[in-house]
Amino acid sequence: MAKRPTSPAAFQVIDHPILRHMLTEARDKRTGHARFRELLGAIGGLMAYEATRDLAVDPLAVNTPLEEFRGVRVRLPLTIVPILRAGLGMAEGMTRYLPDAGTGHIGMFRDETQLNPVGYYEKLPLNVAGGPVLLVDPMLATGGSAMAAVTLLKNRKCKDIRLICLVAAPEGVERVVREHPDLRIFAVSQDRELDDRGYILPGLGDAGDRLFGTSE
Ligand code: PRP
Ligand code: URA
Repeated sequence: MAKRPTSPAAFQVIDHPILRHMLTEARDKRTGHARFRELLGAIGGLMAYEATRDLAVDPLAVNTPLEEFRGVRVRLPLTIVPILRAGLGMAEGMTRYLPDAGTGHIGMFRDETQLNPVGYYEKLPLNVAGGPVLLVDPMLATGGSAMAAVTLLKNRKCKDIRLICLVAAPEGVERVVREHPDLRIFAVSQDRELDDRGYILPGLGDAGDRLFGTSE
């Protein structure tokens, strides 16, 4: 039976018609990998916009052609950390809005029998703990990969961690929130449940394969 969706305060569904429209197209199995990549990038950019509403800014004075203007710029450091592989698609769109953000990479895949995350790569900017981290992975299924990535970032002393995913399963959200109650999680959809192979239903299939065309 489907689990009742959870909505802990730390978990926020960004409910926007444009995002819902794009996610519907991304879910469609007829959408090929070139369009899928475009969609993930565009969604990543829009989600970055929503998930960074409260970012700190520093004053910045500039001169317009007419006079001085006292404006702002986003405070750095700020780091975007995609979980490889699938996080790369959304991260690319985020950097369009946050071009001065650093980028770190966490390589992790899910062992398909036990569904446990297996880490294989880690490269983070030295100043990653100095500011917010946007941790990006389109799929939050059992939550194992996200929890391992958050633990890794916390071991590097990161405090303000925001997990940006596209589709989240209730089971994964519940698990991640229980383990990391200080984390903020943003998604476009909380889907119904996981199937017996740990895939999100209705979901969009294997995000990494669809992004890179490795299932075709
Ligand atoms: C997918 C996805 C997440 C993980 C989610 O990656 O991108 O990282 O599975 O599952 P979980 O919440 O149960 O841990 P995958 O293992 O398919 O690796 P890939 O992106 O390299 O294909
Ligand atoms: N990883 C994916 O790419 N898709 C799922 O549905 C679950 C894990």
